[in-house]
Amino acid sequence: MLRYASFIAAALAGALLTRCLSPSSPAPPEFASEPLARVSSRLRALAQHASSHRRRVVLVTGAAGFVGFHTALQLHAEGDAVVGLDNFNSYYDVRLKRLRAALLHRAGMRTLVEGDVCDAELLRTILREGRVSHVIHLAAQAGVRYSLKKPLAYVEANVRCFVTLLEAVHAVNNSVPIAYASSSSVYGLNTLVPFSETHRVDQQASLYGATKKSNENIAHVYHHLHKLKLTGLRFFTVYGPIGRPDMAYFGFTQERTLHAPRSPPPFALHAPHLRLMPSQAILAGRRITEFRKDNGDELQRDFTYISDIVDGVIAASRLAAPLEIFNLGNTRPEKVSTLVKCIEAGLGRKANSTRAPITAGDVPLTFADVSHARKLLRYEPKVTLEAGIRRFLLWYSDYYQVDLARDFMPSRKEAHELKVKYNINVNRRRRGRQLEYA
Ligand SMILES: NC(=O)c1ccc[n+]([C@@H]2O[C@H](COP(=O)([O-])OP(=O)(O)OC[C@H]3O[C@@H](n4cnc5c(N)ncnc54)[C@H](O)[C@@H]3O)[C@@H](O)[C@H]2O)c1
Repeated sequence: MLRYASFIAAALAGALLTRCLSPSSPAPPEFASEPLARVSSRLRALAQHASSHRRRVVLVTGAAGFVGFHTALQLHAEGDAVVGLDNFNSYYDVRLKRLRAALLHRAGMRTLVEGDVCDAELLRTILREGRVSHVIHLAAQAGVRYSLKKPLAYVEANVRCFVTLLEAVHAVNNSVPIAYASSSSVYGLNTLVPFSETHRVDQQASLYGATKKSNENIAHVYHHLHKLKLTGLRFFTVYGPIGRPDMAYFGFTQERTLHAPRSPPPFALHAPHLRLMPSQAILAGRRITEFRKDNGDELQRDFTYISDIVDGVIAASRLAAPLEIFNLGNTRPEKVSTLVKCIEAGLGRKANSTRAPITAGDVPLTFADVSHARKLLRYEPKVTLEAGIRRFLLWYSDYYQVDLARDFMPSRKEAHELKVKYNINVNRRRRGRQLEYA
């Protein structure tokens, strides 16, 4: 416990701390999470409120991450009491995690704990004090290519932390259902498409995929031994606003920036002159690399928009099945060149593309069969790649302050979503080349 308490103490000056802890004060932009010691009274109040209003209390791990943030925001909007947990690690630009935390705070979520899923004592305290009724476990070390560089980070975050979580749930309340993130990477070198949950999956192509498959095996063991309720969700290439800078759609738009500065400057998020201004790849005419199969054919991905994934995650959490695995994909594999064309159209610039052979760990094609999720979760992916990339670029252009194409005008619906979710005001008018942001 002392570890995260001292981490926060070092990060904040006294006056700022006082502001942070007042529930009525607006969230300082770089900080909206707190150590458990400061959150626990709010955690108990949340549990009390949830029980008197017959609401679920959902623990979302990785809540400052891409999928975790969007999931927590939606759960909160649907009336669930949400407790977030994230260690805000610096795998990518921490300012994006701080921004997500601040947006959750703005939406009214006051229980985002800064801590580690591998911390058993912390987990037991959250589960007990918050009277957690459901767990959605999204914290992990993500990324296929990085697993070639830092294999042990994957064993720690994806295997050790997962077992720590299952042990904590088993110790505190065995009946709490857990929905956890698996990945399409478990299909690895499988060539039978579309990928189905009934296919054999024992040929992963990366350590990342292997750790996700091991989660599914471990889930089976904990269900078998202790009757824990566990649902694995195999996500297929998730993308969208405030996404991950290590993924292709983000990297094609800007230069890849895998490593964030360790301590982000205070208030950077709301001070445009302090924002990270990456050398935007397509915008700056920098070369982007499209990887190809050995025979020259293009790679294909079943790109899935974030809101479709969130629908599937929440439906799986509500179903609380004894032991399940679901594919959550878009069912429409797209060539990487199609992704590039969507980004080019939004930015109004041509990409300077080069080709390279597929890298170790990557697979040529992902393609989800979602009939199982359709049947049990009523899962139905709705957002096309073109529409999803538009929404990503609208957010991106505000955050990094870049122009979009001349004819790029957000619809009323898109403008509303930008306001509600990301606190971005778009006037839907043009000033010169750029959209006007109020
Ligand atoms: N985004 C995708 O395309 C995709 C595809 C397949 C599977 N997944 C899985 O979905 C989940 C969410 O992915 P994402 O894209 O949101 O990634 P992300 O990196 O944005 O989110 C993960 C979050 O977990 C946190 N975290 C990592 N280790 C932690 C620990 N030990 N304790 C506490 N917090 C920790 C990180 O700080 C981060 O905020 C992950 O399990 C990932 O493997 C994602």
